[in-house]
Amino acid sequence: MSSINYNDKIPNNVNLSEDRTLQRALEHWQPNYRKWWNDMGPEGSQDFDVYLRTATSVDPQGWASFGYVKMPDYRWGIFLNPRDAERQVNFGEHKGEKAWQDVPGEHRANLRRIIVTQGDTEPASVEQQRHLGLTAPSMYDLRNLFQVNVEEGRHLWAMVYLLHKHFGRDGREEAEALLERNSGDEDNPRILAAFNEKTPDWLSFYMFTYFTDRDGKFQLCALAESGFDPLARTTKFMLTEEAHHMFVGESGVSRVIQRTCEVMNQLKTDDPARLREAGVIDLETIQRYLNFHFSVTIDLFGADESSNAATFYNTGLKGRYEETKRDDDHKLYDRTYNVLAVQDGRLVERSVPMLNALNEVLRDDYIKDSVGGVNRWNKVIEKAGIPFRLKTPHKAFNRSIGTLSGAFVSPEGVMMSEAEWVSHEREWLPTNEDRAFVASLMGRVVEPGKFANWIAPPVMGINRQPVDFEYVRFN
Ligand SMILES: [Fe+2]
Ligand SMILES: [Fe+2]
Repeated sequence: MSSINYNDKIPNNVNLSEDRTLQRALEHWQPNYRKWWNDMGPEGSQDFDVYLRTATSVDPQGWASFGYVKMPDYRWGIFLNPRDAERQVNFGEHKGEKAWQDVPGEHRANLRRIIVTQGDTEPASVEQQRHLGLTAPSMYDLRNLFQVNVEEGRHLWAMVYLLHKHFGRDGREEAEALLERNSGDEDNPRILAAFNEKTPDWLSFYMFTYFTDRDGKFQLCALAESGFDPLARTTKFMLTEEAHHMFVGESGVSRVIQRTCEVMNQLKTDDPARLREAGVIDLETIQRYLNFHFSVTIDLFGADESSNAATFYNTGLKGRYEETKRDDDHKLYDRTYNVLAVQDGRLVERSVPMLNALNEVLRDDYIKDSVGGVNRWNKVIEKAGIPFRLKTPHKAFNRSIGTLSGAFVSPEGVMMSEAEWVSHEREWLPTNEDRAFVASLMGRVVEPGKFANWIAPPVMGINRQPVDFEYVRFN
């Protein structure tokens, strides 16, 4: 195999060219990654020149450089935030010890599992989104899709770097397996359920990047607290990219809402049938999509009570959101936390040891954060003078993981019989008709500055370029 100049090919700040073993491992993995990208990445896009940002360093100004790139040639780099030599393990039974630069032997299996689970979500979302480019509502949106895709690819590189660098042969095997599982594959699916769902249309894409990439943010924030320093430094840098993904989601949904409200006011109607005739997505349908993506995403935080979560915390591997900003002992032995449970056909709160409830703690932090954007969407509706308001459903609604799975709870949090729940399901979750209608709107609009009828243009372009900038050259 010919050797590669890694400083050219793979921008990095980890002295890649000085670590021969690591370099060989990545040389072996890279062609398989490329093959995966060509087979499973954005469909039919290999020759496009796309106006993308590429990370070339981690300093605040320098990490995003913009230019036209063919995506298969994207310079997927490896970046860790700078090391703080004084950093300690900040929670759990090792609190106060020096942060680990190498994997502690006794935590090796758990740490590998955490890294593999995070790593698996990154290529999964690229696979879920691979057909969307064919129906982009604008060139601007097409570019944003591709930006998200290449950065999820980079996040895979980030996790594969850790596996190769710190986990020897097991790590190399896991890195291969990350390219072998596929989203929705019956025989070899992705690890987490939400990453095996389809992302069939652009409303789903915006909801996914708003809600599910935000799950990514919270998982990364928890890992950024890890006592395993290379994981903390890697995930910190990933978070800078994640912000753009959530922006794509929040602004995307916001623009859909804005366009719907414009047409509602033009036609002076709130009748979903008339709005659909006019080619925009009624707010009721947007609410059902929201309910679906919210409930599927909060399942990703795992069971409300989990001994694994306790172990990950206790052993210093995975912290809480903003761990070091919290004012407590960071050991949590005596603390409790309330989780929901079903008792005699009612939802009740139950106090459990906090260490076992850390999935729920992270889920609740996530819920607080995700409500913010929903409130901003409601401002758009309010400004248009329309009385409708969107709402995140109750956290017990439509759950498939933990004690609430199998409970029949309305979006308002009312427990009911299965029969009653099913009789309302069409009001709460996207129906086949909803999905078919949204799919019928999807058509490719890619002339610079043009937008599909069902979505408003953005206020600003990317990197201070105009909205009608040529973000993608099709060649
Ligand atoms: Fe990611
Ligand atoms: Fe993301």
